[in-house]
Amino acid sequence: MTAIEPSGQILGATVRGMDLAKPLNDAHFGTILEALGRHGVLRFPAQELEAAELRDFSQRFGRIQATLTGRHHEPGMPEVGYLSNIIENGEPIGITDAGQDWHTDMSYNETIGFLNVLYAVKVPRRDGQVLGATMFANTQAAYDDLAPDLKAKLATATVTHDFNKFWENMRRRPGSLRGPLTPEQRRRRPPSVHPIFLTHPITGRRVLYCNPGYAIRINELDESESDRMLETLFTHRWTEGDVLMWDHIGTLHNAVADYRPDEHRLMKRCQVMADRIFEPAFVRDAVAAASLAGAPSR
Ligand SMILES: [Fe+2]
Repeated sequence: MTAIEPSGQILGATVRGMDLAKPLNDAHFGTILEALGRHGVLRFPAQELEAAELRDFSQRFGRIQATLTGRHHEPGMPEVGYLSNIIENGEPIGITDAGQDWHTDMSYNETIGFLNVLYAVKVPRRDGQVLGATMFANTQAAYDDLAPDLKAKLATATVTHDFNKFWENMRRRPGSLRGPLTPEQRRRRPPSVHPIFLTHPITGRRVLYCNPGYAIRINELDESESDRMLETLFTHRWTEGDVLMWDHIGTLHNAVADYRPDEHRLMKRCQVMADRIFEPAFVRDAVAAASLAGAPSR
């Protein structure tokens, strides 16, 4: 029996009773979509997944973006990226500094990101404390909390998002292993412009779609006014076997780098694009399948 337990915070829920290694039936797919819209971040504890199972689960929701560098992924499977500080044969096996500022993935793409699915394989701990947490913010609540005059003022504003902004911010950190993007890499990740407010494809609520990681400019307005979005935060502390999936449209996230190189962390990640989720039938049919099967307990 599937159960969804809300965290009691401004976002987040734990989903029990689903084995993500098994093919996802239509009812569970609809249940997950509805819960993602409502809670933003879903935790599926105690999962045991092969990389192909993680990929197959993720690509039910949309197309997966492969890593830009062509490295740091499951052997033979570019859809399953590695986020890790583990060094093997003198080389990091994954991206060592992914996500260490407030952002949402793939806002820099013309087809924006829909969700991430991360599978925790190794989680660093020191003196009983879990390190390498991920923090979240709720962009639906952030929109609701904006003052009415600001909502009106920004109603038609647009934001330019640039992959290179985040890349360069990471490069400026001490010990960064990143080189500058090559002209070819910049060509493959050009900036994109999106409305500052989107309608969430699952909930129909408005979201503040502007994040400090990639947003280089509010095209019609003073940039400082976009800072109001980070009002409410929620942090997830990982444990091995956790699968966390989160909605890139309804949340922002930030990876906390409080662990040393010898305190090993390994996450396997699929970045799913919003190539399907804005099709009304995609959500409608999924939610119908879930309600036909009976709503899960909440
Ligand atoms: Fe990210």
